[in-house]
Amino acid sequence: MLQKSNPKNDNIQVFIKDRLFARSEAKVSVFDSSVQGGDAVWEGLRVYPEGVVCLDKHLTRLQESAKTLMFADIPSKEFIKNAIKQTLDANGMTDDTHIRLTLTRGEKITSGMDPRLNQNGSCLIVLSEWKPLVYDNNQGIKVISTSQRRNSPQFLDSKIHHNNLLNNIIAKIQANVAGKDAGLMLDDRGFVAELNGSNLFMVKNGKVFTPFGHACLPGITRNSVIKMCLKNDIEISEEDITLSQFYNADGVFATGTMGELTPIVEIDGRSISKNNSLQIKIIELFKTEVRNLCEKI
Ligand SMILES: Cc1ncc(COP(=O)(O)O)c(C=O)c1O
Repeated sequence: MLQKSNPKNDNIQVFIKDRLFARSEAKVSVFDSSVQGGDAVWEGLRVYPEGVVCLDKHLTRLQESAKTLMFADIPSKEFIKNAIKQTLDANGMTDDTHIRLTLTRGEKITSGMDPRLNQNGSCLIVLSEWKPLVYDNNQGIKVISTSQRRNSPQFLDSKIHHNNLLNNIIAKIQANVAGKDAGLMLDDRGFVAELNGSNLFMVKNGKVFTPFGHACLPGITRNSVIKMCLKNDIEISEEDITLSQFYNADGVFATGTMGELTPIVEIDGRSISKNNSLQIKIIELFKTEVRNLCEKI
């Protein structure tokens, strides 16, 4: 699945640091730490007429990731919300919109890794685009397991939502080469961690399972699905799960802000049904739930 450019985004306004720029003028310095070392944190947000899905939780994760990376000046939630509002208003966006929110450590005084070279303050980027959900959630997607392992906390903690995405990009390249939609990543022990850009769930014998959060991004959609299942008396647990268990599941789905809930119809050439009644129920429940999770800004 290859996303296409949308001409509606040709003339969008982008917020950088403290003001809006036309898309053609929206640039960061070659001295910016995101260019120098992927030294930035990010969030993907989705906009509906009811507001931004789980906005506060996304901003908390952004700020916590920046704190872990010891950013010197982390903007307040009020500042970020204001920047998002300005950007959405300038573009007339109230629905069908994806926001890539990035906070870089900012511009350096000279090239180099050392964060002490960042003496110009952090740089917030609000890039909002007209964008439908990335996957066809009726059709489902096919995935392949990759040789690239997802980071466990002993290397680079997957709980940090940082811009150093090469771990996941290599997995995605392997999926592309195999002609599949996404790369399934195992953890350092060989258990399933997540897809390269979304979390994984499986349904088996009327129960829902998802991998523990130690080697995946603890996704906000993942958390919303766990809570929604508990609220609706659907049995759910976090476990170490092997590829073989996923191959033989009654249903498998991915979760993420960009695609919401997406059935997985094939893993490593093994077909998986997307017609499991419990999985269909969860996907239907979430279509309503996602609107309840929106926050007005
Ligand atoms: C590696 C990875 N896993 C999972 C997710 C899904 O997280 P969320 O539900 O918070 O969008 C993302 C989204 O950025 C991601 O990059």
